[in-house]
Amino acid sequence: MRFGVLVSGRGSNLSALLDARAQGRLPEAVFRLVLSNVPGVRALEIAAAHGVATTPLDHRGFPGGRRAHDAAVRDALLAAGCEALVLAGYMRVIGPALLEAFPGRIVNIHPSLLPAFPGLEAPRQALEAGVRVSGCTVHFVDAGVDSGPIIVQRAVPVLDEDTPESLAARILEQEHAALVEAVDLLSRGRLVLEGRRVRRLESVRTG
Ligand code: GRF
Repeated sequence: MRFGVLVSGRGSNLSALLDARAQGRLPEAVFRLVLSNVPGVRALEIAAAHGVATTPLDHRGFPGGRRAHDAAVRDALLAAGCEALVLAGYMRVIGPALLEAFPGRIVNIHPSLLPAFPGLEAPRQALEAGVRVSGCTVHFVDAGVDSGPIIVQRAVPVLDEDTPESLAARILEQEHAALVEAVDLLSRGRLVLEGRRVRRLESVRTG
């Protein structure tokens, strides 16, 4: 399956995907394009270092506004031959142009156990709510914010001494593993959507 990855910044989740691919842990996933809505970010350098094509497409001041930018992102992904998308720290809400071009084939990584704490600063939200367990979620993207069917979750304990930064850092380690797992399952055709639930088709083992 040919993937595009949308990013906005640091790129550690992108790095986890590209490293997994290089190490043979994503045998059916190929990364064709990394597109950032913020020029000059580290994620673009990481992509280039792995030999993946990059496109900076700044949303600020884009002629035609949000809809036109979304359409331009879609066109760049389709021109690169992408069939599926990973939102890896893409700090924009996806519009109908992208949702319609990649139906059921867009995944996002979010630093909380959804449906708790969607939106910005999820680790801070978790601390302020006083939960003892948080974590991360990889989910299919729908028209809402962090609201689509859940593919993989990993739990992370909240410690008494945690700050938003320390909790986010421990969650991030789990994000990397969860995202690789979800992309592997999607790329191998092992995910079936049944309403809100995502069922995994596991290989039948014999002997
Ligand atoms: C991650 O915490 C991800 O869950 C959130 O944005 C952050 C991106 O980090 N959506 P990175 O750019 O992958 O390092």
